[in-house]
Amino acid sequence: MISDDELRALKLLKSNTNVIKTNGKTYQRIFPTRKYYVHQWFWDSCIHAMGLIYYEPQRAYAEIISLLGVQWKNGFIGHITYGNKTNNYFPNEELWETKKFSQTGVVCSGLCNPPLLAISLNHIDEVLRDKGEATDTVDSFLDRVILYHNYWKRFRDREDSGLLTLIHPWESGCDNSPRWDNVMENIDLKVIPQRIIDLVKNNRKDTRAGTMANRPLAEYYYRYLYLIDLYKQHQWDTDAILDITPFAVKDVQVSSIWAKANQSLAALMKRRGKIKEADYFSSLAEQTNEALRNCWDEKQKAYKNFDVSHGKKDAIYSDTFANFMPLYSHAASDGQVAVLLKQLSDSHTYGSKYPIPSVSLKSPFFEIARYWRGPTWPIVNLFILEGLKSYSDNEQCQKLFKELVKKTADMIRTIGFYETYDPNIGLADNYQNTLSGMGYEEFSWSAAIYLYLKNKYMEIMN
Ligand code: SER
Repeated sequence: MISDDELRALKLLKSNTNVIKTNGKTYQRIFPTRKYYVHQWFWDSCIHAMGLIYYEPQRAYAEIISLLGVQWKNGFIGHITYGNKTNNYFPNEELWETKKFSQTGVVCSGLCNPPLLAISLNHIDEVLRDKGEATDTVDSFLDRVILYHNYWKRFRDREDSGLLTLIHPWESGCDNSPRWDNVMENIDLKVIPQRIIDLVKNNRKDTRAGTMANRPLAEYYYRYLYLIDLYKQHQWDTDAILDITPFAVKDVQVSSIWAKANQSLAALMKRRGKIKEADYFSSLAEQTNEALRNCWDEKQKAYKNFDVSHGKKDAIYSDTFANFMPLYSHAASDGQVAVLLKQLSDSHTYGSKYPIPSVSLKSPFFEIARYWRGPTWPIVNLFILEGLKSYSDNEQCQKLFKELVKKTADMIRTIGFYETYDPNIGLADNYQNTLSGMGYEEFSWSAAIYLYLKNKYMEIMN
């Protein structure tokens, strides 16, 4: 029996769907939210598919088919898939100048998003097998998933360090996180041409569709668009971009997802008897996990990211959820896990009533409502709860994992399908004792994460 909450989630995912025809082929895609994010986002769609597979496999496959439909010859897949002609979102399709790379006529952005594709497909594969259903649709995607991983390895880890390099804050999905502040502020606003400032001023739509208090400041938006303009001048050639960009960061969050994605791809290959390929992707995951462990700074009690622009290697410390991400790929050592557990349980840092705030409550950068500077995001909870679960011998991890499943599902169910949630810390005057959804409402991945938790962790939730 499907519950009313599940029905509400499924209804939202249906109403947030576009059906678009390009060059005679029809694509069906779920967009994040009607008010603003009206196109398809890469990591959102990987999550939509993970929730939908329990109910409507064809719609889960449609998400993946649409994402693969924009893949470039070199394996790259952009973080936004366009095609919806409405003009609610900035930047629009034309601004990227990427149409020339499309093999199907469907256009995507020139930036990546966290590489959740193989993680999503591995989950789909497991659910289908549990139900005794055929997995040939998954099989048909795998060559392109390998090509996608080859892009990341070849172009985003040229040093073979195990850690991936991002060229724009949007590639992390956590655009406005304080961990980008220093690198972004190294881009002097004076070097940004007036035409870019004007472009942003005249076209920015997020602040009209939402609340200014939720969104990144103008000075960051100028830099976001400046970087895009710079990369267009280099024809989206990743090697050329990496040589000149002022924004190149070896990032712990996306590298942890990368390790998990390689573990997932290895599992998909192993199940198909492709042992050589499985070993290769496992070795990539191990390399990254070792590199992540070595990023740990005992004094700071945190993992270091690195600013690697212009040949530098400057450590970036930041008290954000990204520090917990090595749990997700099981990279954190026992000693590191012990420290992370303490921080997760501390009501003054990350153990708020509705955890996990995206930035520590104690951080000077914490802002309760602003994009990636404080609010609780279901996706973050999903990464961390899966990570905790993987430490199966650690009782405290198991306890926290179960609590987090319950709290996350409860938060989404009782407040609704919002983009973000008030961690309900009772510190900010306006939010004292409130319990509210923030950002945009009717947000697809919050619904999909609810469905995922409800099915995968049914016993914990009941
Ligand atoms: N998340 C970005 C935005 O706010 C782009 O991916 O538009």
